Amino acid sequence: MEKTFLMIKPDGVQRNLVGTIVERLENKGFKLAGAKLMQVSEDLAKTHYQEHQDKPFFGELVDFITSGPVFAMVLEGENVIETARLVVGSTNPQQAAPGTIRGDFGLTVGKNIIHGSDSTESAEREISLFFDDSEVLDYSLSNSAWIY
Ligand code: PPS
Repeated sequence: MEKTFLMIKPDGVQRNLVGTIVERLENKGFKLAGAKLMQVSEDLAKTHYQEHQDKPFFGELVDFITSGPVFAMVLEGENVIETARLVVGSTNPQQAAPGTIRGDFGLTVGKNIIHGSDSTESAEREISLFFDDSEVLDYSLSNSAWIY
């Protein structure tokens, strides 16, 4: 079963949206394989966002993601990488559809509440950056005849 990495950013944690967001993802039918509240170090932030290192907003991005705790998750399900991005919505909350997490809660492209992996390669890379193997659990849900 496919896995993806999602991270509620400091704005989502500060606004007490962790429960609401996890509820939406669980209600969709995805399975939480890993989850933790954590402080992102400057090194981890720079590695995670390394593809944006030459962008003008890179410093702002690193400062923001290290500004307070984040809630990191591994989610499992069929086609979960693409489907979770639909649930998350477009990067710019001002253009994200109502009903998506960013469309409903996000304010600006910087403070957009949540990050989601955009490909199989980035999902594998980001899961291994944020989680030890022992923190990603392999288990079945008792209602797995109905959801993942
Ligand atoms: S790009 O240039 O199209 O590749 O960038 P984009 O995919 O739009 O955004 C990549 C991540 O950078 C964040 N971002 C910003 N942060 C702070 N300030 C500004 N101006 C800014 N623009 C983009 C954006 O929220 C994306 O973060 P993630 O965590 O990947 O959603």
